[in-house]
Amino acid sequence: MVKKKACVFISGNGSNLKAIIKNSRDPNFPIKVSLVISNSKKAFGIKYAKIFSIPYKVINGEMIRFEHKALRLLNENKIELVCLAGFMRILSKKFLRKFNGKIINIHPSLLPKYKGLNTFKKAIENKDIFTGCTIHYVNEKLDAGKIIFKKRVEIKSKIEEFVKRSVQLQEYNAYSIAIRKIYNKS
Ligand code: GAR
Repeated sequence: MVKKKACVFISGNGSNLKAIIKNSRDPNFPIKVSLVISNSKKAFGIKYAKIFSIPYKVINGEMIRFEHKALRLLNENKIELVCLAGFMRILSKKFLRKFNGKIINIHPSLLPKYKGLNTFKKAIENKDIFTGCTIHYVNEKLDAGKIIFKKRVEIKSKIEEFVKRSVQLQEYNAYSIAIRKIYNKS
């Protein structure tokens, strides 16, 4: 099987990046992580690119600069899928159009509920019984693209950090289920 070349965009911890890299070592997994791009040199997740010997690039500064450089790298590396994994910047319409339909994101809520930030706080305040994560295509509207896969998680605490952790543990598997689904490998 010829694996599709993927790039993961990160801004922080990179625990989803680590999970995707580990799952992609399965010969039947449809993608290979060929490139990691971070918009911050302080992102802890860069460590995983180093550990797993994956080429990485830090592009900081203005978003216009980031997008210009990122697009060039995506083209040069023949990237076929971009996975946003804790990438906390909003990509412009122009960028999305140039990489149309090939960018996916993981969001920490059961979309369409709680787009944007503070999703766990909102779920706890609303006394929701379940929260979770959603992997979706990225379009021009925030957290509103076509849903690929959702994983539901029961809210067992009023402490935000606890709920966040319980969802994150499910995210690692959920992201890879979504990637398999895209290429009909589920
Ligand atoms: C993840 O929980 C992801 O759902 C969230 O950021 C975290 C990144 O963790 N994404 C968003 O909030 C996007 N709006 P990680 O850097 O350890 O993968």
